[in-house]
Amino acid sequence: MEFRTIIEPFRIHSVAPLRMTTPQQRRDAVAAAGYNLFGLHSDDVMIDLLTDSGTGAMSRDQWAAIQHGDESYAGSPSYGIFRDAVQALFPFKHVIPTHQGRAAEKIIFTALGGSGKSFPNNTHFDTTRANVEYTGAEAVDLVIAEGRDPASLHPFKGNMDAAALDAFLHARKGSVPAVFVTLTNNSGGGQPVSLTNLRETSAVCKQHGVPLFLDACRFAENAWFIREREPGQQDRAVADIVREMAGLADGMTMSAKKDPMGNIGGWLALNDDVLAEQCRNLLILTEGFPTYGGLAGRDLEALAQGLKEVVDHDYLRYRIRSTAYLGEALLKAGVPVMQPIGGHAVYLDARALLPHIDPLHYPGQALAVALYEAGGVRGCEIGTVMFGRQADGSERAAPMDLVRLAIPRRTYTQSHIDYVIEVCEHVAGNAKALRGYSIVAQPKQLRHFTARFAPLG
Ligand code: F0G
Repeated sequence: MEFRTIIEPFRIHSVAPLRMTTPQQRRDAVAAAGYNLFGLHSDDVMIDLLTDSGTGAMSRDQWAAIQHGDESYAGSPSYGIFRDAVQALFPFKHVIPTHQGRAAEKIIFTALGGSGKSFPNNTHFDTTRANVEYTGAEAVDLVIAEGRDPASLHPFKGNMDAAALDAFLHARKGSVPAVFVTLTNNSGGGQPVSLTNLRETSAVCKQHGVPLFLDACRFAENAWFIREREPGQQDRAVADIVREMAGLADGMTMSAKKDPMGNIGGWLALNDDVLAEQCRNLLILTEGFPTYGGLAGRDLEALAQGLKEVVDHDYLRYRIRSTAYLGEALLKAGVPVMQPIGGHAVYLDARALLPHIDPLHYPGQALAVALYEAGGVRGCEIGTVMFGRQADGSERAAPMDLVRLAIPRRTYTQSHIDYVIEVCEHVAGNAKALRGYSIVAQPKQLRHFTARFAPLG
């Protein structure tokens, strides 16, 4: 590189307005939403970092591909274009489109799950865990110890503990239908899994005769980290690394709302003919005919194009660098964040920033609301609000209280991110003045989406 600045490898082609609001308007809006950021009208949000899922900007060529969509009920050529693009990176025999990732999870765990069964993963994402548990099976997290330590600087904190997996498969012989690995490990801070670890995990699975599946939502970001950080990988094409990752597995679930650059979509892919047949029958029951699944032909075409764009090195260099840019600036300003900085998001450590707020008064929620009130920045609490309610209705502090600032792909510019940095610095400077919250209304499950809060004191 001749120059230090890494620029966005695209220019803006179409824009959407961003409504400016005042602190008073935002205080009113969040109070009306019961201090739950999911309850806001998105017109009242200035920089929306709630999720990187389905919120990215499509390219000119993706919009053009939409025009090429063929909406035939059966045998649409758009399916062929989609399947070929998936198989160019993930050469699995069967490719089954779904409307999003959780639909693929619902199908595979319906086929493989049931009471008495267990599914290990490095860390299950919430919908994966919920779909496993819905069948009566157990979802087990076996990430390496460093992956549970927010301060550890391990380069591949998403790695599976291969020895623990081996012991688990011995102990539960016959009751583990599949092992999953999540790339990158979203619930563990967007941390990557190394190729070496994936090879070890694959070998352990083969020894025990258990299939390995990838939850591959952020596969390209993971492959970029491998290229950057893993010895011997520096000269490889990301697409080539992805094909090696896929070759170590027997199947995958996918949310195409992440790295495939879609606003909607997903798929299930696998090699086993009998299992694929069973999954296709479930697909017809709940999603649609196998050549469109849960999607329109035009969506399939947009995803096929997105898959080509996401493995571009200039894009990935910019993507991973721009997430790190936010994280490094916050660290420099003394705002505690999870390290190393992950691929798609920066995770603020609310418990460290707000030690005066008891975890049972939701420091993550307090921080997320304060960022919104101060600057219209919407993040997502990942802590005691999300995980604190126990099956018996009691409350327990979650292992960490974090606020995730997830970065939509190709959507915000560096000056938007500079603004976010300023807002975070401002809120961190007033940390002592922040107060906790109590919950005044909540549903039995997944309460973070709809609970209502009241500020304390
Ligand atoms: N697996 C992982 C690792 C995910 O991050 C997600 C979604 C899913 C599966 C489910 O996919 O939403 O298409 O049904 N994560 C989003 C997020 C919602 O905000 O991290 P989906």
